[in-house]
Amino acid sequence: MLFKQQAWLRQKLLVLGSLAVGSLLYLVARVGSLDRLQPICPIEGRFGARGQAEFPLRALQFKRGLLHEFRKGNSSKEQVRLHDLVQQLPKAIIIGVRKGGTRALLEMLNLHPAVVKASQEIHFFDNDENYAKGIEWYRKKMPFSYPQQITIEKSPAYFITEEVPERIYKMNSSIKLLIIVREPTTRAISDYTQVLEGKERKNKTYYKFEKLAIDPNTCEVNTKYKAVRTSIYTKHLERWLKYFPIEQFHIVDGDRLITEPLPELQLVEKFLNLPPRISQYNLYFNATRGFYCLRFNIIFNKCLAGSKGRIHPEVDPSVITKLRKFFHPFNQKFYQITGRTLNWP
Ligand code: A3P
Repeated sequence: MLFKQQAWLRQKLLVLGSLAVGSLLYLVARVGSLDRLQPICPIEGRFGARGQAEFPLRALQFKRGLLHEFRKGNSSKEQVRLHDLVQQLPKAIIIGVRKGGTRALLEMLNLHPAVVKASQEIHFFDNDENYAKGIEWYRKKMPFSYPQQITIEKSPAYFITEEVPERIYKMNSSIKLLIIVREPTTRAISDYTQVLEGKERKNKTYYKFEKLAIDPNTCEVNTKYKAVRTSIYTKHLERWLKYFPIEQFHIVDGDRLITEPLPELQLVEKFLNLPPRISQYNLYFNATRGFYCLRFNIIFNKCLAGSKGRIHPEVDPSVITKLRKFFHPFNQKFYQITGRTLNWP
């Protein structure tokens, strides 16, 4: 009898204990996401129709859940229609630069409740075949969002592709354009590392960076090498400026986004006329990865894929010096045009 009573008591205690632990976990999760649960998220009228400038954050969070379910196939098209979700053309595009940190920038901006990212690179404006499919095809590639939110896509090839500025201008002449840049020589090496990895995956051999970057006949920097050309930022920007005024561009310092992401993101929020909603809470340094990762709440966080943050091969210091000297005058011009001076050698 006594044994039976003890067993009953133990069972009760176990249930009570689980309940207490559950409640505690729930409370911690709520507190952890408090900064994303403030009642009102005022989104400036520039992006939405007048009168729609205020949007409850709680609804945005509900939307995130609904969209997630929709993508997983657990929510019907009717539900999406019922909640006024639409596929909108982007109000801002990350046009480049390849290996500048475009994915990190997009993912970090997506922490903002008023921003919805297009997950894939769409390559609408730089790919003739896609472009021929028309603007409706492009719009249909966009994620569902509320009209008050802004959609952002990134396709880094846009920055260097000849036809793109005119094509984007034809879609929306007042669109906001984000360019994330890194110190040009580092960016070129990062670009090379990506191609090298692709070759190695296919068991192919590849030239050393030094051989590609320096012309063996002249011993000068090889401007025919794409990784070098892409890093001459000012040359590409000048083509864009034939269509868009400089005020429509925002330069993100990709090197600083790695070491100190929050201030860079705050500058972007300002440029996009968004209320400041990304906080230090949303970004934490992961020592194993050696990079900042994203925290949505106490339960859900993520780091970028392993293909971001590769180890670069060692490059002959004299080649680095030569490249830095080569880029220097172009960098000066870039600072002058953009009004943003970066600490490049
Ligand atoms: P490396 O692989 O050379 O280090 P993109 O997304 O445009 O291809 O840029 C990739 C670069 O983003 C990486 O280049 C990496 O340095 C940089 N990056 C910036 N922030 C990052 C982050 N939080 N996690 C991983 N990579 C990040």
